[in-house]
Amino acid sequence: KDPENFAADLLAWFDTNKREMPWRETKDPYKIWLSEVMLQQTQVNTVRNYYIRFIERFPTIESLAHADEDEVLKYWEGLGYYSRVRNFQSAVREVGETYGSVPADGEKFLALKGVGPYTRGAVMSIAFNLPYPAVDGNVFRVFSRLDNDATDTAKPSARRHFEDKVMAVMPERAGDFNEALMELGATVCTPRNPICMLCPVNAHCEAFEAGTALERPVKIKK
Ligand code: ADE
Repeated sequence: KDPENFAADLLAWFDTNKREMPWRETKDPYKIWLSEVMLQQTQVNTVRNYYIRFIERFPTIESLAHADEDEVLKYWEGLGYYSRVRNFQSAVREVGETYGSVPADGEKFLALKGVGPYTRGAVMSIAFNLPYPAVDGNVFRVFSRLDNDATDTAKPSARRHFEDKVMAVMPERAGDFNEALMELGATVCTPRNPICMLCPVNAHCEAFEAGTALERPVKIKK
């Protein structure tokens, strides 16, 4: 119900409630890309300091492209999932050699090592305001509740299903909208204790109305 107002209500809330994060101070696609790679398996509060130190040492595509892999790994030590940073450096090298800077082109960007649909959507929308969905666990949860949608989010087809839902309400401010969805999922529409009474979009939420927020999203164990 009311899809246009949903995006407007969410963006108005985000504009006054967004938390400060170092990668929100920049539009540099390389830095936003780094932040999204770090944030994929790691919490915001842990990422902050790693991000700042990494950017101080490797502030540009060139600096990271020319760096020694062993030194780069030291700046990742403690974050885990080390293939993330190996793929990232390899993709950054390819960007440096092939394009000179991060291409504002979703297909070219998706073809890079380690870049999947989530990273493509987050970086293309936040850095270039291109209208791509960025579906992570937060977005599964928020949209399954908004539509009281019992789609099994463990199924491979679920991502495409929720991407379509995001695109159906995508406003002009694509990057802010994707970040607002993450922010809502992280601070209000949380897994176990959602604060529905304070939710800026509870008027749009069918699970809130039905009292089923805690039963969404559905994730069937295999
Ligand atoms: N999690 C993943 N990407 C994020 C972002 N850009 N802001 C906050 N949390 C995030």
